[in-house]
Amino acid sequence: MLTSEDLSAPAELDRGATEQVMCALRAVRPALGGLGYGLATRWDHAFAEWHPTEFRLASRMSPRRRSDFLGGRTAVRRALADARLPQPIEPILIGDDGQPCLPAGVAASISHSRGIAIALAAPADRFSAVGVDVELSGLPGEAAHLLLTEPERAWLDGGRSPGQREHRLLAAFSAKESARKALDRALVGRSLRQIHLIPGSDSFIAWPRDRRDMRLRVWVRPIGTGVLTWTAVPAGRSRSGSG
Ligand SMILES: CC(C)(COP(=O)(O)OP(=O)(O)OC[C@H]1O[C@@H](n2cnc3c(N)ncnc32)[C@H](O)[C@@H]1OP(=O)(O)O)[C@@H](O)C(=O)NCCC(=O)NCCS
Repeated sequence: MLTSEDLSAPAELDRGATEQVMCALRAVRPALGGLGYGLATRWDHAFAEWHPTEFRLASRMSPRRRSDFLGGRTAVRRALADARLPQPIEPILIGDDGQPCLPAGVAASISHSRGIAIALAAPADRFSAVGVDVELSGLPGEAAHLLLTEPERAWLDGGRSPGQREHRLLAAFSAKESARKALDRALVGRSLRQIHLIPGSDSFIAWPRDRRDMRLRVWVRPIGTGVLTWTAVPAGRSRSGSG
């Protein structure tokens, strides 16, 4: 049965388009600086080994959400294996803030878009937190007012063409989502306007309002007409800014 969530979400990609996006995503791997990298698509779920509790949780979700949730769990297990980290014995549940619950000693992040899931993972003695975001659908121009600060909107308006302005908006949105996942909610609140950005050639510097000491580099790569962004908080700095 279709739910309102299914109707409002952008359609999942077909198998051919999925493979093209997967090629573009795999090509980013060398730029990840040793972070464990995992991908999953709705086409390979049959081969995944989910924890029974994850499967039970998923059975209560809408079909679209279930596919995202389970794809994310597959991707994060692949990212852990890629980082040579042990597979969790416990289920990867959803934390109070929506974050994936992983064993102590592991930092990981999940994103999904249009039937594709990506996860990054690292040992916590290298990175205290990571954030990843993939966006494969465009955003309406009006979203800029909700998402961007005034200087960011000026940068957006300076784009040479409508296509470049669309890409800038999507990249800035995704960078803020990545930073949002890597930082403690107490620092960033609910509005992405609380996260400030300075654009660079292939990355942004991002920080929560009034906390420049918490600035992060968020990397950006185009994926077709979409975008992939990611960031990592070095060990020794906590995601909440204390210690
Ligand atoms: C939580 C949020 C970052 C998720 O991003 P999204 O682009 O909607 O969805 P993605 O697929 O990229 O990411 C979803 C994953 O993020 C992870 N996640 C959710 N909340 C998280 C948090 N607080 N910290 C870290 N990771 C989190 C989860 O793993 C989730 O997947 P799962 O539920 O299957 O495990 C985002 O919805 C949010 O709250 N943004 C701020 C609100 C806002 O200003 N929105 C503007 C919309 S115009």
